[in-house]
Amino acid sequence: MKALHLLTVCAALALTVSHARGEDAAAGEAQYAESCINCHGKAGRGMASFPSIAGRDADYIADRLMQYRAREMVGPNSAIMMSWAEKLSDEDIADLAAYISATFQ
Ligand code: HEC
Repeated sequence: MKALHLLTVCAALALTVSHARGEDAAAGEAQYAESCINCHGKAGRGMASFPSIAGRDADYIADRLMQYRAREMVGPNSAIMMSWAEKLSDEDIADLAAYISATFQ
């Protein structure tokens, strides 16, 4: 019985933690409007040398943002993205990825 109770507590904790990790599309929308829209545009389609981020899934977006934050070169203009990504928390990244993947098809 004790073991079962412990399992329940662990499952409840895991749920709380995964929720706290973000994936809050409303928060992502606010962050996008503040930090990303000027380059990637209202519909996520980019402009000139700023790429489209439409039609990507959340994992793709989150992976890219984590690479930029880690100062990894992804494309020729990664330096531009690094300066934005370094300000993002894990939660910001999860929120942005949820918003972008759900909104820009
Ligand atoms: C000053 C302009 C600028 C701003 C602001 C900006 N980006 Fe970018 N973004 C770029 C450029 C340029 C690239 C291409 C970088 C490269 O060559 O690796 C890029 C690439 C990306 C990619 C990868 C695209 C792909 O196809 O792999 C994602 C995802 C992304 N940006 C998301 C964001 C998010 C989210 C924000 C807001 C936090 C943001 N960007 C803010 C210019 C910008």
